[in-house]
Amino acid sequence: MDGSVEQTRQTYQGWDEFYNKNVDEKLAFFEVNGRLFDIIFAQQFDRPFMDYLCKIADMIRLLAQTKMGQEKLRHLLPHKRAMLYFVQPSTRTFLSFQNACYILGLSVSESRGTSTSSEVKGESSEDTIRTFASYVDLIICRHSEAGFAEKTAWVLNQTERPVPILNGGSGPDQHPTQALLDIYTLERSFQDIGGLDGKKIAMVGDLKRGRTVRSLSYLMKNYNDMTLYFVSPDIFRMKDDIKDFLKKHNIAYYETEDFESVMPLVDAIYMTRIQKEYSDDPSSEADTYPGFHFKKKHLSIIQPHCTIMHPLPRRYEIEVEVDKDPRAAYWRQERNGMWIRAALIAYVFGVEQEVSKEFL
Ligand code: NCD
Repeated sequence: MDGSVEQTRQTYQGWDEFYNKNVDEKLAFFEVNGRLFDIIFAQQFDRPFMDYLCKIADMIRLLAQTKMGQEKLRHLLPHKRAMLYFVQPSTRTFLSFQNACYILGLSVSESRGTSTSSEVKGESSEDTIRTFASYVDLIICRHSEAGFAEKTAWVLNQTERPVPILNGGSGPDQHPTQALLDIYTLERSFQDIGGLDGKKIAMVGDLKRGRTVRSLSYLMKNYNDMTLYFVSPDIFRMKDDIKDFLKKHNIAYYETEDFESVMPLVDAIYMTRIQKEYSDDPSSEADTYPGFHFKKKHLSIIQPHCTIMHPLPRRYEIEVEVDKDPRAAYWRQERNGMWIRAALIAYVFGVEQEVSKEFL
């Protein structure tokens, strides 16, 4: 016996009704005075916001190159405190958010599991989050449940202490800040060839349960003339909600199981891991799908400028021999996460113009 008791079954009135609304109807609930307050869905970001945030991230990264610049950055938010509530495993999202906070001078507390909090006494996660809001000014959370970040933001926005919630991954549903860093990486990779507009991107692997490719697909609405190639085993095809969204926004997409046929066509290849942790019956699922791996031999058939990405962690999806090729962008991509997350936190607290002021 570990002494833990079953979580309370009390629920917050009105949540189901809110959750089932169209995203478009919900967006205003997560904004204050025309600015984003909580970061919950990728659909919240429009083109001006994306361009703005990428510029701020570039400036933060430049400032951080000198001791004086780092000191300026650290003086932006030393009066603010953040809580990292990460109850689903994470390496990069956790560390990049934590270090983004350090860059801007915020103090950080963390909880990386439910076993040491009052959740073992049967407290609901919503009450636990509300407690964090009593002590900190920003909550960044990752949870295995779809809609979790949205629910906590919805709960807090009805209290006297609504602090911003940043969604660091909500089950197999969304990972909006990963989509920000992916766009930032794509824009940087294509800066000498006209940026992201008009490019062709292959998304490969577990598209059904991969929240990164789902959030990234939503962001395609902000770019002109995009083409997506969804490359996956039949059982992991992209879900209809995303395909319907793409149709509505006139974004071209193709679906195929033939990875090699797509390789020479695209400007970027976005690899993903099989998300076995969401399987109802993991023993019936293959561990890996070699036809959907990027191998060293493929380097000769992709375009000279093609960017190879992966949100990481990697298992077998990309051969390690590929890492040395200059087109392998995934190690840069994970570092970009720290810069864009610092830009996002600066924006959420309204101090991003203090950054741009340094470049006038
Ligand atoms: C991804 C995630 O957690 O969704 N990782 C990350 O945040 N960089 C991808 C994955 O776990 O496969």
